[in-house]
Amino acid sequence: MTEQRERVVDGQWASSNQIERDLILTDADFSRIRELIYQRAGIVLAEHKREMVYSRLAKRLRHHGMTRFTDYLVRLERQPDAKEWEAFTNALTTNLTAFFREAHHFPLLAEHIRHKQEPVTIWCSAASTGEEPYSLAMTLLETLGPKAAQAKVIATDIDTEALAKARTGVYPQEQVRKLDEVRVKRFFQKGTGRHEGFARVRPEVSALVEFMPLNLLAPQWPIKGPFDAVFCRNIMIYFDKDTQAKILKRFAPLMKSDGLLFAGHSENFSYISDAFKLRGQTVYTLAKK
Ligand SMILES: C[S@@+](CC[C@H](N)C(=O)[O-])C[C@H]1O[C@@H](n2cnc3c(N)ncnc32)[C@H](O)[C@@H]1O
Repeated sequence: MTEQRERVVDGQWASSNQIERDLILTDADFSRIRELIYQRAGIVLAEHKREMVYSRLAKRLRHHGMTRFTDYLVRLERQPDAKEWEAFTNALTTNLTAFFREAHHFPLLAEHIRHKQEPVTIWCSAASTGEEPYSLAMTLLETLGPKAAQAKVIATDIDTEALAKARTGVYPQEQVRKLDEVRVKRFFQKGTGRHEGFARVRPEVSALVEFMPLNLLAPQWPIKGPFDAVFCRNIMIYFDKDTQAKILKRFAPLMKSDGLLFAGHSENFSYISDAFKLRGQTVYTLAKK
């Protein structure tokens, strides 16, 4: 077993004028961390993610006043139900997202729901910090007008910290400014005073979104379909094929017969499950209706 000493400050390589900290991450620790996050969240961490793991978990060790990952792991594994598991998982998820990311999906969704007679329900299954489900809510409002009040976006994620941020609906102004001006005016309130530099999604948008924690690996999902659309974008890339296939199989019975499944740009479900077939532009429909 080799021991690796790394000089890191807040995840960055330390320069000489920064305070240095030495945390010890052995090969065995790194392997164990990879096993644990795979078992817990299905996330496959590649060998080259060692530095990322170090910097993401360093704050947990510092929080406990520890210098060795071995001690942290012993503590973690001794307390199977402890809050620390939540913090461990939150630290190792990647939450990169944006408003109207992969923008071509939103007009496709709009066309799909425009003439629906029944209230529209959408499941956003990797909601992260909220940008995606709020973009869905904005699309509902733009497409359905006053009828959108009966629609619902169920927004779930394993990461409880990301969900807490999502629930606030508050984003830096510079992030919001990238949106279409009409949308900014219609859907955001500009912060003033101590909220200067931030914007909050308007209540008519947040009213359509319900956030809740959900691990896609959990044996039971606390949600009920049928959904007009399921958004599962930029999450399957973190899972292996077996996990992806199991999740896709469980999505199928939760969809309406004409429901749409939206995948991320680099995700291809065609070779993974025969439950769905590609409609085009990383959008799938049920294979058997
Ligand atoms: C890169 S973000 C994608 C966010 C958004 N869907 C998008 O495309 O912009 C991936 C999200 O998947 C979540 N995630 C990872 N493993 C999960 C699991 N087992 N169950 C539910 N969510 C998970 C992470 O917490 C993270 O917020």
